[in-house]
Amino acid sequence: EQIEKGGYDHFMLKEIYEQPRAILDTFRGRMLANEGIIRMAGVDDNIEKFVNANRILIVACGTSWHAGLVAEYVFENLTRIPVEVEYASEFRYRNPIITENDVVIAISQSGETADTMAAIKLAKSKGAFVFGVCNVVGSSISRETDAGAYTHAGPEIGVASTKAFTTQITVLTLIALKLAQKKGTISKSEFHQYLSEMDAIPAKVEKTLESANHVKTIADIYKDATNFLYLGRGYNFPVALEGALKLKEISYIHAEGYPAAEMKHGPIALIDEQMPVVVIATRKGHYEKVVSNIQEIKSRKGKIIAVVMQGDKSIKKIADYVIEIPETLELLTPLLTTIPLQLLSYYIAVMRDCNVDQPRNLAKSVTVE
Ligand code: G6P
Repeated sequence: EQIEKGGYDHFMLKEIYEQPRAILDTFRGRMLANEGIIRMAGVDDNIEKFVNANRILIVACGTSWHAGLVAEYVFENLTRIPVEVEYASEFRYRNPIITENDVVIAISQSGETADTMAAIKLAKSKGAFVFGVCNVVGSSISRETDAGAYTHAGPEIGVASTKAFTTQITVLTLIALKLAQKKGTISKSEFHQYLSEMDAIPAKVEKTLESANHVKTIADIYKDATNFLYLGRGYNFPVALEGALKLKEISYIHAEGYPAAEMKHGPIALIDEQMPVVVIATRKGHYEKVVSNIQEIKSRKGKIIAVVMQGDKSIKKIADYVIEIPETLELLTPLLTTIPLQLLSYYIAVMRDCNVDQPRNLAKSVTVE
């Protein structure tokens, strides 16, 4: 096992560090940034179904559901196709409206999640085209779907999902860009700009990982907190949910993810000097509004850990700690903002002596209801 961990203390840390490589592997053969080409057999062969879709329905569970939420923002923005994201477990039992003109995307790392599988079978029975985004090659879901695209993350052993999440977002973004190009919903120059920024993401993830020691220091300061709040907006609202989930899963600290603007409708009541609040506040996207949220937290003596874009000055002045990510396009920020949140939960869990790779009560793949 020590050999399999490749010198890392835990599989989770190894998998966090594998992300630049995993994203690159997910691009491989699909994205030719210089030529301005995205090739994905499962999408290309069914392109008419995608571009003529009335609606895209995304079904998934857990972390994969969070990747689906990021994809909702990405797809709607780039392709103008309406998207709905559903917990597979709810979808399967609520007599949902599904038509032959719907495209259903099922996201699953393991490809074995029982609820997701049931949702797929239901969608197929209603005549929808079902596309799978799985990591495990030859898994049940990858076989049951009409077509699909694998995330080439490699085996993920840690129960808490890390590289599967970022590669799911990568695949879904590639699909959205391909459809946007085909539909003409983005200009040629925008398309090229996205591709070249995508191409730069693995190196920027690598750069983001350099903040590990700084994140570790922050982890040490807040490791004894009993509650955490995670806030983000837009593309980074699902990242806030995912950050909170990671912390809950492996450190057993109660954490809630919230859209930053919803804070005033509830969570603000919880804020006092004991409460660390992780705020994703990249300069792109609702920046001033998030800054004013941070001020509200500050005035209630909450502790602020902000994930900001390189060179940010305003937030540095008010936050207790900032963690920087490199500059990128707003739509691609989740691939970078996720990284420090993974590291924060990892270090806190280690410091609390938790079983990071196999947290209590959780399973890597949930094959029963
Ligand atoms: C379990 C795992 C999570 C995962 C979820 C969905 O709860 O512990 O990490 O996100 O199942 O799994 P899937 O394999 O369908 O992505």
